[in-house]
Amino acid sequence: MSEKIYIFDTTLRDGEQSPGASMNMQEKFRLAQQLVLLNVDIIEAGFPIASVGDFECVKNIADNIKGVQVAGLARCSIKDIDRAWEALKNGENSRIHTFLATSDIHMQHKLRMSREQVLELAVASVKHAAKYTSNVEFSAEDATRSDIEFVCQVFEAVIEAGAATVNFPDTTGYALPSEHGEQIRYLIDNIPNIDKAILSVHCHNDLGLAVANSLAAINSGARQVECTINGLGERAGNTAMEEVVMAVRTRSDQMNIHTDIVTEHIYPSSRLVSTIAGMPVQPNKAIVGANAFAHEAGIHQDGVLKERTTYEIMNPSDIGLTKGNLVLGKHSGRHALKDRIEVIGYSLSDEELARVFSRFKDLADLRKEIFDEDIEAIIMDEIIRIPEVYELVSLGVMSGSMKMPTAAVRLKIDGVQKEGAAIGVGPIDATYRAIAELTGTSSKLLFFSVSSFTGGTDALGDVLLRIEDNGRVVIGHGLDPDIITAAGKAYLNGLNRHVYLQKEADKK
Ligand code: KIV
Ligand code: ZN
Repeated sequence: MSEKIYIFDTTLRDGEQSPGASMNMQEKFRLAQQLVLLNVDIIEAGFPIASVGDFECVKNIADNIKGVQVAGLARCSIKDIDRAWEALKNGENSRIHTFLATSDIHMQHKLRMSREQVLELAVASVKHAAKYTSNVEFSAEDATRSDIEFVCQVFEAVIEAGAATVNFPDTTGYALPSEHGEQIRYLIDNIPNIDKAILSVHCHNDLGLAVANSLAAINSGARQVECTINGLGERAGNTAMEEVVMAVRTRSDQMNIHTDIVTEHIYPSSRLVSTIAGMPVQPNKAIVGANAFAHEAGIHQDGVLKERTTYEIMNPSDIGLTKGNLVLGKHSGRHALKDRIEVIGYSLSDEELARVFSRFKDLADLRKEIFDEDIEAIIMDEIIRIPEVYELVSLGVMSGSMKMPTAAVRLKIDGVQKEGAAIGVGPIDATYRAIAELTGTSSKLLFFSVSSFTGGTDALGDVLLRIEDNGRVVIGHGLDPDIITAAGKAYLNGLNRHVYLQKEADKK
């Protein structure tokens, strides 16, 4: 039997540290549910002492998500660890993940502590955490740039103090695969009690090597990989979970190991993270990019038609890709939709299903054929719904090469109808000016993109944008067969998100 690699997902913690990728409580909870479907071993739900919001998100997930370990991050400090445990204590199997830097650069310039002090604090912190739970992880921040003898000393001491997992992060994404593999081997060969703990790695992607480094570490004996979906994370991101998992699975001939990830949930999970975090996946991204299974060259297409494995090393269905399936139409009922939603990898509450069904029916009135991608687009749009202070009632636009683009907008603002009109450089500019006038917003548009989930001129237009207001950056999504309407909805979704987050902040 092959050995198991534990998948520690940190999309909700390190992933969320990606600029502009912040998620609210409902979104984090929804993502945690998806991680359970994926069957990850550990969900790192957040950093409880960082903010009241973070604390509540970790608590909500620990209290309600079952069948998976839930971790909370804490610096090596009594206050941090107590706060983390406060958030985690009702969980089925909670982990305190505490960390302290061990590199000379960090110890001298950031911590201003000596090696002796770091060692002492690491041990004291792990002992404190171990009073709450035996599930304690210790991370030596910036480990790959640390003196490895010192890391060995620290790991030996924290294992003795009660750490069940020791993590060796490549915090700055500095390591090379051969070097990282040797480092892991060195730890295994030189820490006398290493067999009492799981050795973990946590790689960042600054040199584009996070996945390669994680695989090298696995080959040398690491048994936990910390990673995020789509490789989301600080700077260039973290190890992409889908890439490690599919590499391990596809090349099992080379590695006698396995993960317990249900790979058919990879693609839906990737879409969900991309939607919630407002981070589109690059088309040529391995495993989950739009082109990852697209064959452009004639010779390749011919080969795949004759025998799929000529040019495909993985089966798209193994990651849950069901592209291009014609599924439902005007006469399909709620049960058929529910079944199809499950097949494409989502699980919705009854209330969400009712909303998705109603939107599905509206679309089926306009179009004969509804594809998986249409259903998925509607699910995404419904999942990221937030309370609407600003609601679009109607939008009329005049534009074209002969006309000055003009938009007439009717909104419901806190239940009261208001109308306005504006001209602009283009129809979207005109629409946004009219909305800005009606809502009184002074927000700035930072990013705007339009895409479609399916091909064809009758596809649903999907607008993703990012706006900034008073220093807070939020995403907005809009979905509609009419792209100007989709753009208007996305703008309003962003503005509603601002209002929602402001209300949440005011409560604290
Ligand atoms: O990159 C890093 O070092 C971390 C630690 C907190 C594990 O994220
Ligand atoms: Zn990290």
